[in-house]
Amino acid sequence: MNIKERAREILAGMTLEEKLGQLNMLYIGMYDNGIDELKKAVRAGDGGSVIIAGSIVPGDGDDTELHKEIAELQRIAVEESPSKIPLLFGRDVIHGHKVVNPIPLAMSASFNFDLIKEAYAETGEEAMCDGINWTFAPMLDMARDPRWGRVIECPGEDPYVGTKVAKAVVEGFQGTEMPYKMAACAKHYIGYGASEGGRDYHRAEISDYSLRNYYTKAFKSAADANVLTVMNSFNEINGQPTTSSKYYLTDILRGELGFDGFVVSDAGAVHQLTRQGVAKDYKDAAGLALNAGLDMEMNRLCFPNLRELIDEGKVTVETVDTAALRIIETKLKLGLFENPYSQHSTFDLNKHLETSRKLAGESVVLLKNKDNILPLDKEAKIALTGPFLHTKRDLLGCWTLDFDLDYVTTIGDAIKAVAPNATEFTALRQYDLKNYDTVVAVLGEAFDITGEAHSVTDISISKAQAEEIHTLKRLGKKIIAVISAGRPLALSEIEEEVDAIVYVWHGGTQTGLAAADVLFGDVCPSGRLPITFPRVTGQIPIFYNCPPSGRLCNGYYSDDLQWTNYEDCLSTPLYPFGYGLSYTEFEYSDMTVSKEKFTLDELKNGIKASVTVSNTGNRDAKEVVQLYIRDLKASYTRPLKELKGTEKLLIEIGKAVTVHFELTDKDLGYFTPHGEYIVEEGEFEIFIGHDSYTENKITVELF
Ligand code: NOJ
Repeated sequence: MNIKERAREILAGMTLEEKLGQLNMLYIGMYDNGIDELKKAVRAGDGGSVIIAGSIVPGDGDDTELHKEIAELQRIAVEESPSKIPLLFGRDVIHGHKVVNPIPLAMSASFNFDLIKEAYAETGEEAMCDGINWTFAPMLDMARDPRWGRVIECPGEDPYVGTKVAKAVVEGFQGTEMPYKMAACAKHYIGYGASEGGRDYHRAEISDYSLRNYYTKAFKSAADANVLTVMNSFNEINGQPTTSSKYYLTDILRGELGFDGFVVSDAGAVHQLTRQGVAKDYKDAAGLALNAGLDMEMNRLCFPNLRELIDEGKVTVETVDTAALRIIETKLKLGLFENPYSQHSTFDLNKHLETSRKLAGESVVLLKNKDNILPLDKEAKIALTGPFLHTKRDLLGCWTLDFDLDYVTTIGDAIKAVAPNATEFTALRQYDLKNYDTVVAVLGEAFDITGEAHSVTDISISKAQAEEIHTLKRLGKKIIAVISAGRPLALSEIEEEVDAIVYVWHGGTQTGLAAADVLFGDVCPSGRLPITFPRVTGQIPIFYNCPPSGRLCNGYYSDDLQWTNYEDCLSTPLYPFGYGLSYTEFEYSDMTVSKEKFTLDELKNGIKASVTVSNTGNRDAKEVVQLYIRDLKASYTRPLKELKGTEKLLIEIGKAVTVHFELTDKDLGYFTPHGEYIVEEGEFEIFIGHDSYTENKITVELF
């Protein structure tokens, strides 16, 4: 019997009340008497899942207690509840658990999707040890506005990167075959990253043209990787809250993207329909959401009204059956009916720390390296300063619920461990610093300036930190800025004064060690920007895959003075998408394509493009080879560049490697504003190079 048949059989034996129970997520915060009342609710069959938001043990109990309490709740569900259906235990395991990995935006910078998958598989193991069988990740909101606090959680500004991250995270957490290890949740569907002005929870205006060509791509990839659940977003799009939109939740998500699991609401999203002014009351909100295609309510506020709505004929039993079936199928796919309890009790901490250090290292983006001041000599006399020299918590970034600060080495301590002549200074005085030519200044932003409901209006590096740099410059020092942040910061004020910029992000537990690895050359930087770094906040939104304009003011790619975008600022970003330096040099040559003219049928079978990349410098190093396309003439304006392939590979000193890509109709076509996917005849430029500014190209023709 297959999963669908088994689910139907289980459903056939359930009462309506039992089915309705499955559609709720329980939360300990809903109950005055805490865990006892939660157990009572589980025993009564009130929920299909429980969110472990902080801890379910009063006082944020230790891990053994958490694991035990989850097991006890599961025991009650499978032995004492009316339907005996096992529970899902969901938690925000976003970028690590005990071992915290870099923030998701930083992980994207690694462009090492295999390593991301490995890291998430290890994170999943850690979470399973605590009894968690459902995580609310990956977050797949494409974002073009770094003012938005949740930019830390997203894959960046590019849909292609989003598709790769989606697959890596889903497969890392779930595995690739049934029974899946745990359930992942692709969120926040859809358009949350486009919240106007970077204001969290705000409205989004997204045309269907942009929706399908940009925003849904990562969700499609998650669906293709069999993601078991999707969480809807808080925002409205073009006047429709996603929570009550059949168009977004059913027609597009299921009809077009092929998603087959269940949709859970984001916290409070159902009752917030009343505040958004589309539902009269909580009961009305419940009907709107369920009828639109939302299957489970987080926090169980509105869905208890469903019974009444059925009696009134506003919700059908079939609709309830559909939602309950999806939830039961998910539990079957996880093998919970056979093994309701966690199968994991230990994990290999050292291995996970090692993976995390690798990933943190590969996420570091070297933005500037004047006169090859880096890497530093371990014996050099260097001065250390800056407000983030000894921070631990900030390095982890936000959305980390289970971290252990004992695993964290500060950036300052990590540097001092390998460079015995490094000395710290807090006051930056000529006299104190007279014997030091080079200063490493550790700058950045605190972990709680990013995250949910933590947006900002100005992404500039803080005034106080800029002042420190001005002082060091006046003192004639060579300055290496190490920056730990959760978003792109606008660095114009210090960029010219510093000799090097090493962007280490909120790189997780291993940020400090990874920063030292890069500073002293044990690791050659190989991170590339997954999001544009503007010069100033006022350039936002600024993103690489922008369309051309009639007056050639394609601000991203040229500072043309006649058609400038701004009177008070250059048009180009400070650092473009895909950008990042290395300690070696890479040379691109011999770009080829298998055919310069081809028919649609030939394209369907794939046309090949290749390039030779040589390491002409003096270090073995990893390069991220990037393939972009441009459709030169189409029925609708098309982006000046669109990323369609990346390959990260290690190239030894003096060696040359030929890198191969394949393009098909899936790469060269696009969705019209009416939702039709078309591939149009004409010329396309194919670029292969080091970043989005590459001009290394061949023009091909589809006829
Ligand atoms: C609200 C957030 O938007 C979402 O990302 C998270 O998973 C839920 N709360 C649960 O904590």
